[in-house]
Amino acid sequence: MASVTLPNILITNLKGIVGAYGGLVPRLLKGAKQDQLPILTDAWLQIKDGGVAGMGKMQDGLPTENSLNQDVYDGAGRWAFPGFVDSHTHLVFAGSREAEFEDRIRGLTYQEIAARGGGILNSAARLQATTEDDLYLAASARLDQVIRMGTTAIEIKSGYGLTLADELKMLRVIRRLADNFPIRIKATFLGAHAVPRSYPDRATYLKDVLSWIPIVAAEGLADYVDIFCEANYFTIQDAAAVIETGAKHGLRAKIHGNQLAISGGVQVAVNHGALSVDHLEQIGEDEIESLKLGKTLPVLLPGCSFFIGIPYAPARKLLNAGLPVVVASDYNPGSCPSGNMPLLWSLACTQLRMTPAEAFNAMTLNAAAALELEDSHGSIAVGRPANLWLSAPIPSWQFLPYHYGTGAQMVDRVMVDGAWYNGPRG
Ligand code: NIG
Ligand code: FE
Repeated sequence: MASVTLPNILITNLKGIVGAYGGLVPRLLKGAKQDQLPILTDAWLQIKDGGVAGMGKMQDGLPTENSLNQDVYDGAGRWAFPGFVDSHTHLVFAGSREAEFEDRIRGLTYQEIAARGGGILNSAARLQATTEDDLYLAASARLDQVIRMGTTAIEIKSGYGLTLADELKMLRVIRRLADNFPIRIKATFLGAHAVPRSYPDRATYLKDVLSWIPIVAAEGLADYVDIFCEANYFTIQDAAAVIETGAKHGLRAKIHGNQLAISGGVQVAVNHGALSVDHLEQIGEDEIESLKLGKTLPVLLPGCSFFIGIPYAPARKLLNAGLPVVVASDYNPGSCPSGNMPLLWSLACTQLRMTPAEAFNAMTLNAAAALELEDSHGSIAVGRPANLWLSAPIPSWQFLPYHYGTGAQMVDRVMVDGAWYNGPRG
């Protein structure tokens, strides 16, 4: 196979590099430190062999080293940003759920819609009836779209299959995305997403899900396990069993918890060493204390609160408690049909009351840790892979979340591992 040589790229005249690290990059930014976002203004940025080779101030002169065979790109008026890391999505799904959207506007709740056969079971029925190729095509179009909005690493869950064959089908689609797209993709097995109607009870389905974990692990189809730990779905005992079974087979856990009620989901995730616990719209002091005692990362999903009209997670309380906060999209057809990270940045600022820097760190540097990608994603750092994007000319980096709704259009070009992104390979 002919080896592909990446061109060296020198980007000049940038208004600034956001999340710029010349030396050591922190693994996580917690509490007050989450407001620290290093910016190098009036800068050049050099990319070599897929990685960040150097950065500096224009006034100090351009680098003379490695200047042969170099593409020079004039970044006048633009900012370089680290690529977003979206650590929680359900991007593989069949069809859409506009009817439920309208039902909710007319007054039904997410839970009432689910009880009527809508919700996750609705998406599962459609997914089961969709071929692997068609699922791939739809997911591929969505993934291409989110990359063009600045996402350079993403987690994608199964969980609309709800049979072994269909869960494996979803996971194979995720693997095919990973094979054909240059960005990093982590796969999560979420067999315990809802109890299918064909089962007599929850416990019987859970037993099956637990028996599927070794199969999924043996096929190398997942990095993580997950469970929807929530009233009418799965219990904290079920969550403990999923986390422990996953661990036995080398899969760490990322748990859905405390979205609809104070459920013990946070405590079970922390006590069993989950990598993250996601949602947290319903938490109090006990949950915050638990998070402080453990290493499990709190992941907030404000797009879901925005879309289905549930409370927002108390981001400020988590930050005031000295915790590292992560923000992700939850891109899925039911509770958040959007993977638009620039818009989410605005929501994190206006609704979670996070500063632009806190929110951006939550979607980049801290989010990378929530996917164990902290060495390659979430910052623009010398010696690290170049996963970043350039904005259109804008007056300040904060202009992007401020001028809400148009942020995605301000993502001008995206670089993945040192090469400009121009679509999937297949
Ligand atoms: O994170 N609650 C579980 N999963 C999604 C919703 C899935 C759906 O409604 O299809 C969530 O909100
Ligand atoms: Fe989710």
